[in-house]
Amino acid sequence: MDRIGLVGGNPLHGEIPISGAKNAALPLMIAALLTGDDLVLRNVPDLADVRQLRKLLLNHGVRIEVAPHDPGHIGETIVFSTPSITDTCAPYELVSAMRASFWVIGPLLAREGEARVSLPGGCAIGSRPVDFFLTGLKALGAHIEIDEGYVVARAPRGGLQGADVTFPFPSVGATHTILMAAVLARGTTTISNAAMEPEIVNLAQCLTAMGAKISGAGTRTLVVEGVDTLHGADIQIVPDRIEAGTFAMAGIMTGGDIVLRGARPEHFQAAIDLLRRTGAEIDCEPDLVRVRRSAGRIIAQDIDIGTFPEFPTDLQAQYMALMCRADGTSHIRETIFENRFMHVAELMRFGADIHTDGQVATVHGVRELKGAQVMATDLRASVSLVIAGLAAEGETTINRIYHLDRGFERLEEKLAACGADIRRLK
Ligand code: EPZ
Repeated sequence: MDRIGLVGGNPLHGEIPISGAKNAALPLMIAALLTGDDLVLRNVPDLADVRQLRKLLLNHGVRIEVAPHDPGHIGETIVFSTPSITDTCAPYELVSAMRASFWVIGPLLAREGEARVSLPGGCAIGSRPVDFFLTGLKALGAHIEIDEGYVVARAPRGGLQGADVTFPFPSVGATHTILMAAVLARGTTTISNAAMEPEIVNLAQCLTAMGAKISGAGTRTLVVEGVDTLHGADIQIVPDRIEAGTFAMAGIMTGGDIVLRGARPEHFQAAIDLLRRTGAEIDCEPDLVRVRRSAGRIIAQDIDIGTFPEFPTDLQAQYMALMCRADGTSHIRETIFENRFMHVAELMRFGADIHTDGQVATVHGVRELKGAQVMATDLRASVSLVIAGLAAEGETTINRIYHLDRGFERLEEKLAACGADIRRLK
């Protein structure tokens, strides 16, 4: 199994191109199930999660073709076409490997009137139920049954019917799914307490380009006027705000100076504001963010994790790594997932001083971190260990890095280009 070996201590200097966002690429790929025409997606990152979803889409009859490299875009251009859906079942083996696979239930139900999709189950960061999805689909008229670990959903005769759907919490996945179901439903659907992450806006842009009628994307209320059919479109995946925020923290932690090319500052403004309060200098342009900590200490700052536009849970572990080296004590409150502190035990192997009490981690900054052997536990936790290792003295080895490959494109290459002493050990 691959590992990462790195030697800490080098400040990062240079420019990092920000890849397309995994969490936008996945729902936009799923949207290909909604039309028989070509859906062209640009800037698709080459990641394990994207490859995993491609397997599932192939199983439903989606044809997938990678276009020749387009020098204007950093990722791949992929053409998806689904002349017909050949199978409405999303099997356990494919859904359990990646939770977002469950979202196919929305388009399958909207286009074919039926879907049999394995329940995704919990995962390392929490139990992650699907009750909001099922309540939302039922509101659109679907009949839902659970059969041997599968959700079996059937649309009423005449198809899904627009309705008012209010989520108890602005779930990203439930918003993507109900949005994709509602675009082909009869009549108007209003989704209240919707998620408003940039990835939701990207999906709404894609669906609109396909002929859907959606208003309110990027707010808490989405209104969808159902249409009979959707057509093809050509859409760019938004840059990955989590990747940008991660590299920003790596730059600050190592006392470096890096330019995040392609990053959209408005997509991670809460992180930029927080990082400025820790003492970093950050300059923003529309498609570029420069981050540096030329000298001086990192100032400890408390943070409550929230939904967009607040500070994201997907940057919580990385921020905790940064706070391990801060001057003073910080409190980090995770509010989205109930079990997203698995990196704590691993960060302590570097000599960090962290205590957790329920959903709050108290981090006492230390003067120095020391390289260690650590284990990646989930995607964002893994990268927090990379950041800590880059700022630690001596050698670090990170095991189980398949987690990293799920969501960070060419991580070692990008960091090495900025002066990090990092390599993949086969
Ligand atoms: C998305 O997960 C992201 N995944 C996650 O990224 C991200 O951490 C999360 O949103 C929050 O921003 C993708 O976009 C592929 P939620 P999702 O539904 O949609 C509860 C990463 O590292 N909930 O917004 O699964 C749920 O348990 C990851 O890239 C219910 O209770 O998250 C959680 O506590 C991992 N019932 C909260 O809502 C439901 O039916 C938010 O989850 C649905 C959700």
